[in-house]
Amino acid sequence: MAINGIETIIYGVEDLELCTRYFVDFGLNLTASTNRESHFELAEGSNVIVRPLEDARVEGQKLVGYGVQQVVYGLTSSRHLEKLVENVSTDRTVRRDADGSAFFFDDDGIAIGLRVFNRQPVIGAPDPVNSFDTLKRINVHRKWRTRAKPKTIQHVVFMSPSPERGFAFYRDRLGFRLSDIQPEFGIFARADGCTSHHTMYWFRADLPFPGLDGQLRFNHANFGVEDIDEMMVGANYMQRQGWPKSNWGVGRHRISSSLFLYLPCPAGGEAEYGTDSDAIDDNWIPRSWNARFGTATWISNIPEFLINEAPWEMEFIEGSVPVGTPHPKG
Ligand SMILES: [Fe+2]
Repeated sequence: MAINGIETIIYGVEDLELCTRYFVDFGLNLTASTNRESHFELAEGSNVIVRPLEDARVEGQKLVGYGVQQVVYGLTSSRHLEKLVENVSTDRTVRRDADGSAFFFDDDGIAIGLRVFNRQPVIGAPDPVNSFDTLKRINVHRKWRTRAKPKTIQHVVFMSPSPERGFAFYRDRLGFRLSDIQPEFGIFARADGCTSHHTMYWFRADLPFPGLDGQLRFNHANFGVEDIDEMMVGANYMQRQGWPKSNWGVGRHRISSSLFLYLPCPAGGEAEYGTDSDAIDDNWIPRSWNARFGTATWISNIPEFLINEAPWEMEFIEGSVPVGTPHPKG
């Protein structure tokens, strides 16, 4: 295993004070704050850094607009880090910091980095669920929470003019694995040392959806919470603090099975509470989905493009089924 998570995301924002208050209310743990930077640290040891856009932008980047300007991926060891630096430095400049961290651009022009990451395991203890006569909780009520406290950065999403080109770099140079494809919408991929369904999603930038204009832009970051109760307590708290409500509300994606709740974010794009994603490894067989069918199994506020039931279309990707395995198509 090499990349074991997202170690740091750096936001470039218009109003640092407003965005700091937003992420504090969202439930991130503020560890340092100046008038040029706010630093949040999550339980897994990952970092969210918020800076004014002019400070966060990386000279030469192609990414436009507010939101995450740089993603630093975590490496399990310096040996793995040096191997990946060797892979990427064949055709691009790699800047090194004194601690060994490496910084460069991916093929889309997004500024990314690599750094050794001593990721801390996060032990979840979600409340057992009762179902008919299958009783997992007797005389015990579910947890009463007051706030959401996200503990992980599960994935980041960019709107890319070419998801295929974006993904190819991460597959060929950084060892990412294909998770699933929505041919019209985008590509899901997982870092090799991660088990969450996707570490990145490239969303096709010229789709006719709000906020997409064909350009390379940040879309959202997903912050992991324990279960649906923590997700919704967080959403209620945000509403009580006066932040805008989610457009879609809570829902469950069909691709990845994860529960989602996207909140508009003044730092750019949306901030997502996420939980209960499929956990996958290299035995996973990637699939190609009807884009609308893959989007959700249910959603509280159905967007226009999902009003009509989508056709149940999904197939395993040709060539992705291991030799010796009966082909799912027969
Ligand atoms: Fe997401």
